[in-house]
Amino acid sequence: MNPLLSKLQPYPFEKLRGLFAGVQPDSRYSPISLGIGEPKHPTPAFIQQALADNLGGLASYPSTTGSDALRAAIAAWLERRYDLPAIDPATQVLPVNGSREALFALAQALIDPRPDALVMCPNPFYQIYEGAAYLAGATPYFVNSDPARNFAPDYKSVPEEIWPRVQLLYLCSPGNPTGAVLTLEDWKELFALSDRYGFVIAADECYSEIYFNAVAPLGGLEAAHRLGRTGYPRLIAFSSLSKRSNVPGMRSGFVAGDAEILKKFLLYRTYHGSAMSPAIQAASVAAWNDEQHVEDNRAKYISKFNQVTPLLQEVLDVALPDAGFYLWAKVPKLSDTEFAKRLHAEYNVTVLPGSYLARDAHGANPGQSRIRMALVAEVDECLEAARRIVEFTQKLS
Ligand SMILES: Cc1ncc(COP(=O)(O)O)c(C=O)c1O
Repeated sequence: MNPLLSKLQPYPFEKLRGLFAGVQPDSRYSPISLGIGEPKHPTPAFIQQALADNLGGLASYPSTTGSDALRAAIAAWLERRYDLPAIDPATQVLPVNGSREALFALAQALIDPRPDALVMCPNPFYQIYEGAAYLAGATPYFVNSDPARNFAPDYKSVPEEIWPRVQLLYLCSPGNPTGAVLTLEDWKELFALSDRYGFVIAADECYSEIYFNAVAPLGGLEAAHRLGRTGYPRLIAFSSLSKRSNVPGMRSGFVAGDAEILKKFLLYRTYHGSAMSPAIQAASVAAWNDEQHVEDNRAKYISKFNQVTPLLQEVLDVALPDAGFYLWAKVPKLSDTEFAKRLHAEYNVTVLPGSYLARDAHGANPGQSRIRMALVAEVDECLEAARRIVEFTQKLS
């Protein structure tokens, strides 16, 4: 077997199973999970219908480039959403089977596995980045997020000699788990570094449509355009219908940006065999072309977060995020793992310890003393979980 497989860490939920092993939650409480970041709002009926209407497509092999209709729908969505000049659907967009596989695959296509190869990751981070780096023959280099700067990774802390070794930089905006959105200033700094050292930026933006401010989160392509960059050099943006349209099971997303990189990525993908089912493509066209369901979905999250956050603020250091569907809270008295374990045992509520979503780097684990709560269930269940968390935390003091 490939020895690099041994470098892969167990997924945070496996670690959670280990933490909870042998714990018997108090049976007076029904179980509530704020652990997994899986959308739970219902899938819009028109998307299900589009899928059903196009099952005839199962009789053909799809092409890896996807249909013209899908690439055109994605390009048009990008232009509308980010106020971009024309995106070329033939060269600047590719469909992917959810952003996860594409985030992983890009590293495999892109990395030159020299012994000193580095892939830069935010810390805390989405664990796929780390596995992608290792399996591509590179080493992840973690940059801790800075709570004082709305959790933006502190790139200024990176020693000068590190940068020439970086081939790929993952970033996540809106961030999982922090909910933070990078500013135009952050992007300016990143583009300058990419221009200087030649690394590719993989911008993971799958939470871009769930936000709480009047202004929609800035996207990477949008930032590049606003800063006068043409052709999106060394920038690939990743997005997805999973959260936007409540279809995590459909496995549908896209990559967009630098046409030269996408051309090579397409070559890689044809060998990897990652074409999207024609029925899923047709349902995806319907989803990208509709914004009403996205607005309705966002309104549900806004209402939920506006009710749940103030409750939790009575006992936890937590703020409404810029975007996404997580609360990233600091817990008092106990470590994050002990807090999660006792909350599970005493109130049957599952949250994810922050340290499981981060690595020890530069003398700290930036997830320590924090928990991630995914407010994906309907509002009543989230409110009930919040009440139990308040009671539990008050008992600690
Ligand atoms: C930060 C981040 N990126 C990417 C993904 C992958 O989403 P999908 O593959 O459904 O597009 C997730 C899923 O939870 C995520 O949290």
